[in-house]
Parts: sequence; structure tokens; C-alpha cells
Amino acid sequence: MPSTKPQSLQVIDLVHTYNDGSRTVDALKKVNVKFEPGKLYAIVGESGSGKTTLISLLSALDAIQSGDITYGGKSIREIGAQQFRQHYVNVVFQSFNLIKYMTARENVEVGLDFSGHGNDKDRAYELLADVGLTHKEADSLTQHLSGGQQQRVAIARAMAGEVPIIIADEPTGNLDEATETKILQIFKKIADSGKIVIIVTHSQKVASSAHAIVYEMRSGVLKRK
Ligand SMILES: Nc1ncnc2c1ncn2[C@@H]1O[C@H](COP(=O)(O)OP(=O)(O)OP(=O)(O)O)[C@@H](O)[C@H]1O
Ligand SMILES: [Mg+2]
Repeated sequence: MPSTKPQSLQVIDLVHTYNDGSRTVDALKKVNVKFEPGKLYAIVGESGSGKTTLISLLSALDAIQSGDITYGGKSIREIGAQQFRQHYVNVVFQSFNLIKYMTARENVEVGLDFSGHGNDKDRAYELLADVGLTHKEADSLTQHLSGGQQQRVAIARAMAGEVPIIIADEPTGNLDEATETKILQIFKKIADSGKIVIIVTHSQKVASSAHAIVYEMRSGVLKRK
């Protein structure tokens, strides 16, 4: 379990290469960056520049090849991928990955249960209220909710584990700009509560409107904008 004191997440000389037989892609070329608690980071960049690759490594969904990622100075290799995924980081995907035939509240309860917080109905309603969903919406099947509402459910579920790091890959890719801005404001609020929040977004404009610290990925190289 992570200590209760928020710590920084640091990426050190991270190099990642894909090799699928016929071709080799240098997806990350010595990425160095430090993510601090209480801050919202936006990573922008062209398609194929390496954003998802970085996020997969930051969330321990893929193994580090070269370089390191540390939380509170400790390598995530040492912490262990499974431990890291369960207690340190939660990922919100563009496709939401919600269970359609369950209500919004039940989806959040799954998140609570997975992280060892038990099946707490009241806490699920509370988390959904935090992202702006009413009781009635919380009791709707997720397949009956709008894209923006489903995205809120996915964020509430990610919050259920009370992990210190929240990462989102194109969380607003399917949404109109007004909804996108609102969702980013929710992420900003989450960062203000002391977490590290890292989102990949296409829109530089939206990233700026959420007062995020913006980095740009270009052909595997990450630079502050
Ligand atoms: N599993 C894989 N096998 C081989 N090559 C891959 C794999 N995943 C990604 N790549 C390559 O690595 C590079 C970086 O891909 P990545 O998915 O990280 O980009 P991205 O910035 O997330 O793009 P997008 O904005 O389109 O989501 C691309 O050239 C891509 O083709
Ligand atoms: Mg991607």
C-alpha cells in the first residue's frame, strides 16, 4: 500500500521499443518527467507519437524495458506491477470500459470491491454525486446514459480505489467541446484534492482551459509546452 503522504511520480530515461518482427518502432526515446501530487498534467501530441505507450508504462500495464518509473523514490518494478495497479494507479479509458447491463452505481461498486473497499452502496452514490450525477442517473443502466455521463461514471469508478494517481487516455475523445471542458474541470478538482492526474487529450485549447501543465509528445520525445 502507498504511504498516505502524496509522493511524486518520476519517469527516468524511459526508452520503449516495439518489435513486431518486420519493423522496429522507437516509441519512447529517453523520456524524463516528474509528476507532482496536486497537479493536473495534459499530454498532447500527434497520433503515433507515443502517448499511449507512456501511459501503459505509467499504469504498469506494460513492462519497462529500459529506464525507470518511481513513486516516492521507489521503482514500480520493486513495488510490483500488480500491487501498483491495485493500490497506486487507476486508468480511465476513452471507451469507458463500463459494464453496460449494470447501473452506474453498480459499476462504481465493482471499483470499490476490486480495491478492497467492499460493496459500499452509499459510497458509490457519493462518488457519483462528486462527478455531478444525480441519484436517478446513478440508478440508470449505463447503456442508457449519454457519453458525457458515462465518462463521469468511469471517473467515479477510477476514484473508488482512492489511489494517488489517476491517468486518462483520451477521456474526452468522444465528447463535444463543452462536455469535454466540464470533464476536464472534474479532473482538475481531483488534482486539487492532492492526487496526480495525467490526461492525454487532443485539444491543446481544452488542456489550457483546465489549467493543466501541458507536455507535448513528438516522435517519442516529451517536452514541456
Ligand atoms: N503493440 C504495438 N506493436 C508495435 N508497434 C506499436 C504498438 N503499439 C504502438 N506501436 C507504435 O508505437 C508508436 C507509438 O504509439 P502510441 O500508441 O503510443 O501513440 P499515440 O501517441 O498514443 O497515438 P494516438 O494519438 O493515435 O493514440 C506508433 O508508431 C505505433 O505504431
Ligand atoms: Mg493513443
